[in-house]
Amino acid sequence: MRPQLIIGLVTLLGVGGVMSPRTTNGPVGVTVLAAQDNPVALSEESVTAGRPVYLRFCASCHGFSGRGDGVAGSTATAPANLIDDEWSHGGSDAEIYKTIAEGVPPDYEMEEWLGRISEEDIWNVINYLKDLAAQ
Ligand code: HEC
Repeated sequence: MRPQLIIGLVTLLGVGGVMSPRTTNGPVGVTVLAAQDNPVALSEESVTAGRPVYLRFCASCHGFSGRGDGVAGSTATAPANLIDDEWSHGGSDAEIYKTIAEGVPPDYEMEEWLGRISEEDIWNVINYLKDLAAQ
């Protein structure tokens, strides 16, 4: 193997290691997800499936209304309002998916949920939030 190639490989592996926030779930395909749109259509069925997931895992911090006014919200970082048009970590479906799946580094006050919530249910929650925002 040529030396340049070896250096290139080491660099790639190094960057990959830094970019995956936690090792428990294995690295999530960041670039793949960025190019992906919501594979679950916004339908009544999806919204209905997303509601109990949101109420169980998210409402304690983000509030029943999604405005970030849940009782368990940390004082260090306020839980985000999820039904306004402002997104600190990107507002496309794919970016919101990534935030929910991987959490927000470096503090992870917004934890990573992939592993505890299925991929499909994360998309369902995103659809539920869209429906909530439209009300
Ligand atoms: C322990 C409290 C807590 C729970 C539970 C929680 N979050 Fe969060 N969430 C936060 C905090 C705090 C932030 C802000 C993080 C930051 O910007 O540094 C956040 C940010 C977010 C963002 C980014 C918003 C933006 O403006 O880009 C999304 C999306 C989100 N949460 C969705 C969810 C979903 C969906 C769930 C349930 C699966 C959930 N959160 C559960 C605390 C929580």
